[in-house]
Amino acid sequence: MRTLTGITPSGTLHIGNYFGAMRPAIEAQQAGDCFYFIANYHSMTSVTDAAERRVNTRGIALDWLACGLDPKISVFWRQSDVPEVTELTWLLGSLTPMGLLERAHSYKDKAAKGISPNFGLFAYPVLMAADILLYDTHRVPVGKDQKQHLEMTRDIAIKFNEAYGETLVVPAAVIRDDVAVVPGLDGQKMSKSYGNTIEIFGDEKVLRKKIMGIVMDSRTPAEPKPDADKNLAIQLLKLVAPAEVAADLENRLRAGGLGYGDLKKALFEHYWNYFAAARVRRTELAANLDHVESVLRDGAARARAVASVVLQRARRASGLE
Ligand code: ADP
Ligand code: TRP
Repeated sequence: MRTLTGITPSGTLHIGNYFGAMRPAIEAQQAGDCFYFIANYHSMTSVTDAAERRVNTRGIALDWLACGLDPKISVFWRQSDVPEVTELTWLLGSLTPMGLLERAHSYKDKAAKGISPNFGLFAYPVLMAADILLYDTHRVPVGKDQKQHLEMTRDIAIKFNEAYGETLVVPAAVIRDDVAVVPGLDGQKMSKSYGNTIEIFGDEKVLRKKIMGIVMDSRTPAEPKPDADKNLAIQLLKLVAPAEVAADLENRLRAGGLGYGDLKKALFEHYWNYFAAARVRRTELAANLDHVESVLRDGAARARAVASVVLQRARRASGLE
């Protein structure tokens, strides 16, 4: 049972990404056979600065390795190190109806915002299908926003199999409904597009200031707060503090007597400790970029071994060979 997912290198990761996507992926390693890649071809439709792409790609690699992606268990690589994926994209694209792509949210949303769409953006669901189908993937854990892309992947795989005989594994999406949406500093969903993020890795002073700056209501510390479970700091504490500590602070807030300043201070301390070991690992990894590069190259070799077999199967089935 192979699990595969792609991570777009688009900026700095926040704790919503961590609890929503990274932690489940890291936990899935216990069952083995995990394929995780940095989707740098996908970043080409939005980022056109070469240095920025390199920096983002390296940053994401460091983040994932620091947070517990274990390259001994998981195959971890940079998408462009297995260029076979672009060939499969062509084979699949030649069977993909225009109408299917015209209905894709990724393209429709950007076009609606007035962003002039390019071929890459339009073809993005085909590249994503190739990412998945090239590795005989069974399960693809993704956020809800990717549901449509997974349906397209299945449609495209079925079309290929109908045209050329059973060749490609038809994958299933694993949509993470179980993972609660992590709220941001303003109470909305934490997202880099809303500017309300708590980064996983960042400067201590800046992050302390962000957390101490969370706006709360004007009730005095002494007042009991029957809605303590709805408090933003309490919700975030439940993610980063031991359960009994979060429960104790929630009870004290409910009963009255705990001030918001002290609560936010506790949140900061627990958040900072939660990622302390990962922060140390990230600093070590950043000082040893040759090692990170060799992890990605080794991952690419392992990924390529699978990819070349599947691509050859598709080439033979379709009469290219
Ligand atoms: P952003 O909204 O910051 O642009 P992305 O869309 O790049 O984040 O999300 C990357 C992954 O992180 C996806 O799997 C998504 O479901 C998950 N994710 C992002 N924000 C949150 C959040 N606030 N709570 C839970 N999961 C999240
Ligand atoms: N499109 C995905 C996102 O924006 C990233 C991605 C690219 C991906 N290829 C994939 C996810 C293949 C799962 C499988 O989050």
